[in-house]
Amino acid sequence: MSTKTPPANLRAGWLEIRDLVMVRGTKAVTHAIELRIAPGKVTALAGANGAGKTSTVLGIAGVVEPAFGEIWLDGQDLVGLDADEIRRRGIATVPEGHQVLRELTVRDNLLVASGGLSRGETTASIERVLALFPELKEKLQQPAGDLSGGQQQMVAIAQALMVQPRFLVIDELSFGLAPTIVARLVPIIRKIADSGIGVLLIEQFTQLALALAHHVYVMSRGAVSYDGEPGKLRDDPEILHRAYFPVSDREAVGL
Ligand SMILES: Nc1ncnc2c1ncn2[C@@H]1O[C@H](COP(=O)(O)OP(=O)(O)O)[C@@H](O)[C@H]1O
Ligand SMILES: [Mg+2]
Repeated sequence: MSTKTPPANLRAGWLEIRDLVMVRGTKAVTHAIELRIAPGKVTALAGANGAGKTSTVLGIAGVVEPAFGEIWLDGQDLVGLDADEIRRRGIATVPEGHQVLRELTVRDNLLVASGGLSRGETTASIERVLALFPELKEKLQQPAGDLSGGQQQMVAIAQALMVQPRFLVIDELSFGLAPTIVARLVPIIRKIADSGIGVLLIEQFTQLALALAHHVYVMSRGAVSYDGEPGKLRDDPEILHRAYFPVSDREAVGL
């Protein structure tokens, strides 16, 4: 980890991404991404398929080391720390595609996510996450692979919450889930944020982002093309249209 001097304008308690460049293969897929994630609020990161959202998430989570840039929390730059250390610092990530350990029971999925907690803390954490997802209570002894997609997403979020993170990064919360299930997740995400956790919600489509977020970033071809409140995006669909269909693409298809 670097011992850089923190920029003077960092906000206390916020997670701030500066100038993040992610390289996948040989190609830079994000260009100087800047994100400010508030504690106790939902911040959304939206953008078309291939915009660079997941690459950004992998950079924040320490799964792929950023080629350039800084990830500031509590005056420290976390770039260069591995995924376990970043989790220990309080940033938990729910990867794309509600990945659970399918053969393990729901309870065991929660237990494997309790690394570093004492037995007492683990029991308390399981109770805490089950209070948030009561429908998992009756599924505790079932293999997670037998659950519906929505319930698997609940297990994945519950796993991330076991260690009481300060920030929760969820890559494609609604992907592949029926709208009725997404609707059930909405109040839960709100509750998580209300408990003080800063949520970064990554969504390809903006509906959920606009419903939940106090601040929205839209990524377009690896760069942030919108950074502002959700209201403006709701009122001016052209902003989103441009972000999802850049002018060069529109010309190519004759729009
Ligand atoms: N492992 C990889 N190797 C090479 N290129 C990748 C890899 N993963 C993603 N990419 C490329 O990076 C770009 C951004 O992808 P990604 O971050 O997954 O975007 P999003 O999550 O917004 O759909 C895309 O052009 C994609 O093809
Ligand atoms: Mg993605």
